[in-house]
Amino acid sequence: MSAMSGLAALLEARISTRAFRDTPVSQKTVEDLLNLARQAPSGGNLQPWRVHVVSGTARQAVIDAVQAVQQEHPLGEPDPEYRIYPKPLAEPWRTRRYECGETVYAAAGIAREDKMGRLVHVAGNFQFWNAPVGLFIGLHKDMEPGQWSDLGMFIQTFLLAATEAGLGTCAQEAWSIYPRTVKTAIGMPEDHTLFCGIALGHADLNADVNQARTSRAGLDEIAVFDGF
Ligand SMILES: Cc1cc2nc3c(=O)[nH]c(=O)nc-3n(C[C@H](O)[C@H](O)[C@H](O)COP(=O)(O)O)c2cc1C
Repeated sequence: MSAMSGLAALLEARISTRAFRDTPVSQKTVEDLLNLARQAPSGGNLQPWRVHVVSGTARQAVIDAVQAVQQEHPLGEPDPEYRIYPKPLAEPWRTRRYECGETVYAAAGIAREDKMGRLVHVAGNFQFWNAPVGLFIGLHKDMEPGQWSDLGMFIQTFLLAATEAGLGTCAQEAWSIYPRTVKTAIGMPEDHTLFCGIALGHADLNADVNQARTSRAGLDEIAVFDGF
Protein backbone atom coordinates (compact mmCIF):
# COMPACT_ATOMS: atom_id res chain seq x y z
CA MET A 1 0.00 0.00 0.00
CA SER A 2 1.41 3.38 -0.88
CA ALA A 3 1.96 6.06 1.71
CA MET A 4 0.37 9.44 1.15
CA SER A 5 0.50 12.89 2.60
CA GLY A 6 -1.29 16.22 2.51
CA LEU A 7 -3.90 16.76 5.17
CA ALA A 8 -6.90 16.97 2.84
CA ALA A 9 -5.91 13.71 1.14
CA LEU A 10 -5.35 12.01 4.49
CA LEU A 11 -8.73 13.14 5.83
CA GLU A 12 -10.34 11.77 2.68
CA ALA A 13 -8.43 8.50 2.83
CA ARG A 14 -9.00 7.67 6.49
CA ILE A 15 -11.91 5.31 6.83
CA SER A 16 -12.85 2.69 9.37
CA THR A 17 -11.25 -0.50 8.09
CA ARG A 18 -13.12 -3.67 9.02
CA ALA A 19 -11.09 -6.32 7.21
CA PHE A 20 -7.31 -6.64 7.46
CA ARG A 21 -4.60 -8.81 5.99
CA ASP A 22 -2.50 -10.67 8.53
CA THR A 23 0.75 -8.95 7.45
CA PRO A 24 2.48 -8.04 10.73
CA VAL A 25 3.11 -4.49 11.93
CA SER A 26 6.29 -3.98 13.96
CA GLN A 27 6.53 -2.45 17.42
CA LYS A 28 8.79 0.23 15.90
CA THR A 29 6.04 1.23 13.46
CA VAL A 30 3.50 1.55 16.26
CA GLU A 31 6.00 3.55 18.33
CA ASP A 32 6.54 5.91 15.39
CA LEU A 33 2.78 6.43 15.07
CA LEU A 34 2.35 7.00 18.80
CA ASN A 35 5.23 9.49 18.74
CA LEU A 36 3.24 11.45 16.16
CA ALA A 37 -0.03 11.06 18.07
CA ARG A 38 1.48 12.43 21.27
CA GLN A 39 1.85 15.78 19.49
CA ALA A 40 -1.94 16.11 19.85
CA PRO A 41 -3.07 19.10 21.89
CA SER A 42 -4.75 18.68 25.26
CA GLY A 43 -6.28 21.12 27.72
CA GLY A 44 -3.57 22.26 30.15
CA ASN A 45 -1.26 19.90 28.28
CA LEU A 46 -2.42 17.12 30.63
CA GLN A 47 -1.90 14.48 27.94
CA PRO A 48 -4.33 12.27 29.83
CA TRP A 49 -4.17 9.35 27.38
CA ARG A 50 -2.91 5.92 28.33
CA VAL A 51 -2.29 3.34 25.61
CA HIS A 52 -1.81 -0.42 25.78
CA VAL A 53 -0.63 -2.03 22.54
CA VAL A 54 -1.07 -5.75 21.94
CA SER A 55 0.17 -8.08 19.26
CA GLY A 56 0.96 -11.79 18.99
CA THR A 57 0.13 -13.80 22.11
CA ALA A 58 -0.98 -10.70 24.07
CA ARG A 59 -3.47 -9.88 21.32
CA GLN A 60 -4.74 -13.44 21.30
CA ALA A 61 -5.04 -13.45 25.11
CA VAL A 62 -7.44 -10.49 25.13
CA ILE A 63 -9.46 -11.95 22.25
CA ASP A 64 -9.74 -15.27 24.13
CA ALA A 65 -10.62 -13.58 27.41
CA VAL A 66 -13.50 -11.65 25.85
CA GLN A 67 -14.70 -14.71 23.97
CA ALA A 68 -14.85 -16.62 27.25
CA VAL A 69 -17.20 -14.09 28.89
CA GLN A 70 -19.29 -13.47 25.77
CA GLN A 71 -21.16 -16.73 26.20
CA GLU A 72 -22.57 -15.55 29.52
CA HIS A 73 -22.74 -11.84 28.64
CA PRO A 74 -23.37 -11.49 24.89
CA LEU A 75 -24.36 -7.83 25.30
CA GLY A 76 -21.45 -6.91 27.55
CA GLU A 77 -20.58 -7.00 31.23
CA PRO A 78 -23.50 -6.08 33.51
CA ASP A 79 -21.91 -2.87 34.81
CA PRO A 80 -20.24 -0.91 31.95
CA GLU A 81 -17.89 1.97 32.82
CA TYR A 82 -19.65 4.46 30.57
CA ARG A 83 -22.59 4.61 28.18
CA ILE A 84 -21.52 4.62 24.55
CA TYR A 85 -24.65 6.50 23.43
CA PRO A 86 -27.39 8.41 25.22
CA LYS A 87 -30.46 6.31 25.89
CA PRO A 88 -32.73 7.03 24.10
CA LEU A 89 -30.73 8.43 21.21
CA ALA A 90 -32.74 11.35 19.80
CA GLU A 91 -32.81 12.77 16.28
CA PRO A 92 -30.83 13.62 14.24
CA TRP A 93 -28.21 11.33 15.81
CA ARG A 94 -30.43 8.26 15.79
CA THR A 95 -30.86 8.40 12.02
CA ARG A 96 -27.16 9.05 11.47
CA ARG A 97 -26.29 6.00 13.53
CA TYR A 98 -28.84 3.89 11.68
CA GLU A 99 -27.56 4.99 8.28
CA CYS A 100 -23.98 4.26 9.29
CA GLY A 101 -24.94 0.70 10.22
CA GLU A 102 -26.91 0.21 7.00
CA THR A 103 -24.00 1.53 4.92
CA VAL A 104 -21.56 -0.92 6.47
CA TYR A 105 -23.95 -3.90 6.26
CA ALA A 106 -24.83 -3.08 2.64
CA ALA A 107 -21.15 -2.96 1.68
CA ALA A 108 -20.57 -6.28 3.45
CA GLY A 109 -23.57 -7.76 1.61
CA ILE A 110 -25.47 -8.56 4.82
CA ALA A 111 -29.22 -8.20 4.39
CA ARG A 112 -31.43 -6.39 6.91
CA GLU A 113 -33.23 -9.59 7.87
CA ASP A 114 -30.02 -11.59 8.21
CA LYS A 115 -29.81 -11.28 12.00
CA MET A 116 -27.19 -14.00 12.32
CA GLY A 117 -25.06 -12.40 9.60
CA ARG A 118 -25.18 -9.11 11.49
CA LEU A 119 -24.21 -10.79 14.76
CA VAL A 120 -21.28 -12.52 13.08
CA HIS A 121 -20.20 -9.18 11.59
CA VAL A 122 -20.33 -7.41 14.97
CA ALA A 123 -18.33 -10.26 16.52
CA GLY A 124 -15.48 -9.32 14.18
CA ASN A 125 -14.92 -6.31 16.46
CA PHE A 126 -13.65 -8.68 19.11
CA GLN A 127 -11.02 -10.09 16.73
CA PHE A 128 -9.79 -6.59 15.79
CA TRP A 129 -11.27 -7.35 12.36
CA ASN A 130 -8.25 -9.64 11.95
CA ALA A 131 -5.77 -6.77 12.38
CA PRO A 132 -2.42 -7.95 13.80
CA VAL A 133 -2.18 -5.07 16.28
CA GLY A 134 -4.70 -3.76 18.78
CA LEU A 135 -4.47 -0.63 20.88
CA PHE A 136 -6.54 0.14 23.94
CA ILE A 137 -7.09 3.71 25.04
CA GLY A 138 -7.69 4.40 28.73
CA LEU A 139 -8.44 7.49 30.79
CA HIS A 140 -7.93 7.93 34.55
CA LYS A 141 -11.28 7.89 36.35
CA ASP A 142 -10.56 11.28 37.97
CA MET A 143 -10.74 12.94 34.55
CA GLU A 144 -13.53 15.24 33.38
CA PRO A 145 -15.29 15.75 30.01
CA GLY A 146 -12.50 18.04 28.81
CA GLN A 147 -10.03 15.18 29.05
CA TRP A 148 -12.38 12.83 27.14
CA SER A 149 -12.17 15.39 24.36
CA ASP A 150 -8.36 15.28 24.60
CA LEU A 151 -8.55 11.54 24.00
CA GLY A 152 -10.44 12.21 20.78
CA MET A 153 -7.69 14.52 19.57
CA PHE A 154 -5.09 11.91 20.36
CA ILE A 155 -7.01 9.14 18.63
CA GLN A 156 -7.69 11.12 15.46
CA THR A 157 -4.05 12.18 15.28
CA PHE A 158 -3.06 8.52 15.58
CA LEU A 159 -5.56 7.45 12.91
CA LEU A 160 -4.27 10.06 10.46
CA ALA A 161 -0.65 9.18 11.16
CA ALA A 162 -1.46 5.52 10.48
CA THR A 163 -3.25 6.48 7.26
CA GLU A 164 -0.21 8.44 6.12
CA ALA A 165 1.91 5.36 6.80
CA GLY A 166 -0.35 3.34 4.51
CA LEU A 167 -2.06 1.45 7.35
CA GLY A 168 -5.72 0.86 8.06
CA THR A 169 -7.42 1.56 11.37
CA CYS A 170 -10.74 1.15 13.10
CA ALA A 171 -11.56 2.89 16.37
CA GLN A 172 -13.62 0.42 18.40
CA GLU A 173 -15.84 1.40 21.29
CA ALA A 174 -17.14 -2.16 21.15
CA TRP A 175 -14.38 -3.32 23.49
CA SER A 176 -15.68 -0.99 26.21
CA ILE A 177 -18.62 -3.28 26.91
CA TYR A 178 -16.14 -5.76 28.44
CA PRO A 179 -14.08 -3.33 30.54
CA ARG A 180 -13.07 -5.60 33.40
CA THR A 181 -12.18 -8.53 31.19
CA VAL A 182 -10.12 -6.40 28.80
CA LYS A 183 -8.36 -4.43 31.54
CA THR A 184 -7.42 -7.61 33.38
CA ALA A 185 -6.10 -9.20 30.18
CA ILE A 186 -3.96 -6.19 29.19
CA GLY A 187 -2.96 -4.99 32.66
CA MET A 188 -4.72 -1.61 32.48
CA PRO A 189 -5.14 -0.29 36.06
CA GLU A 190 -8.62 -0.51 37.58
CA ASP A 191 -8.57 3.27 38.23
CA HIS A 192 -8.70 3.82 34.45
CA THR A 193 -11.78 3.73 32.24
CA LEU A 194 -11.36 1.68 29.09
CA PHE A 195 -12.56 4.10 26.41
CA CYS A 196 -11.98 2.15 23.20
CA GLY A 197 -9.77 -0.12 21.18
CA ILE A 198 -8.13 0.60 17.83
CA ALA A 199 -7.49 -2.08 15.24
CA LEU A 200 -4.29 -1.40 13.26
CA GLY A 201 -2.85 -3.21 10.27
CA HIS A 202 -2.74 -3.51 6.52
CA ALA A 203 -6.23 -3.11 5.10
CA ASP A 204 -7.63 -5.84 2.90
CA LEU A 205 -8.40 -3.40 0.11
CA ASN A 206 -10.50 -5.92 -1.82
CA ALA A 207 -12.81 -6.81 1.07
CA ASP A 208 -16.41 -5.78 0.40
CA VAL A 209 -16.85 -4.28 3.87
CA ASN A 210 -13.97 -1.89 3.24
CA GLN A 211 -15.84 -0.35 0.30
CA ALA A 212 -18.29 1.26 2.76
CA ARG A 213 -18.20 5.06 2.73
CA THR A 214 -20.17 6.93 5.34
CA SER A 215 -21.75 10.33 4.71
CA ARG A 216 -21.46 13.53 6.72
CA ALA A 217 -23.98 16.10 7.82
CA GLY A 218 -23.66 19.33 5.86
CA LEU A 219 -22.26 22.53 7.30
CA ASP A 220 -25.80 23.89 7.44
CA GLU A 221 -26.60 21.22 10.04
CA ILE A 222 -23.55 21.66 12.25
CA ALA A 223 -22.39 25.27 12.05
CA VAL A 224 -23.85 28.71 12.61
CA PHE A 225 -22.26 31.75 10.98
CA ASP A 226 -22.88 35.30 12.04
CA GLY A 227 -21.45 38.74 11.37
CA PHE A 228 -19.61 38.10 8.11
C1 LIG B 1 -14.41 6.54 19.20
C2 LIG B 1 -14.95 5.69 18.08
C3 LIG B 1 -15.38 4.41 18.34
C4 LIG B 1 -15.84 3.58 17.31
N1 LIG B 1 -16.23 2.30 17.60
C5 LIG B 1 -16.52 1.45 16.59
C6 LIG B 1 -16.76 0.08 16.85
O1 LIG B 1 -16.76 -0.38 17.98
N2 LIG B 1 -17.00 -0.75 15.80
C7 LIG B 1 -17.01 -0.28 14.50
O2 LIG B 1 -17.23 -1.08 13.60
N3 LIG B 1 -16.80 1.02 14.22
C8 LIG B 1 -16.53 1.89 15.23
N4 LIG B 1 -16.26 3.21 14.96
C9 LIG B 1 -16.25 3.68 13.56
C10 LIG B 1 -17.42 4.60 13.24
O3 LIG B 1 -18.57 3.86 13.00
C11 LIG B 1 -16.99 5.43 12.02
O4 LIG B 1 -15.91 6.25 12.36
C12 LIG B 1 -18.09 6.29 11.43
O5 LIG B 1 -19.17 5.52 11.01
C13 LIG B 1 -17.57 7.13 10.25
O6 LIG B 1 -17.04 6.26 9.25
P1 LIG B 1 -15.53 6.33 8.79
O7 LIG B 1 -14.65 6.13 10.01
O8 LIG B 1 -15.37 5.20 7.83
O9 LIG B 1 -15.29 7.67 8.19
C14 LIG B 1 -15.85 4.06 15.98
C15 LIG B 1 -15.41 5.36 15.73
C16 LIG B 1 -14.96 6.17 16.75
C17 LIG B 1 -14.47 7.55 16.44
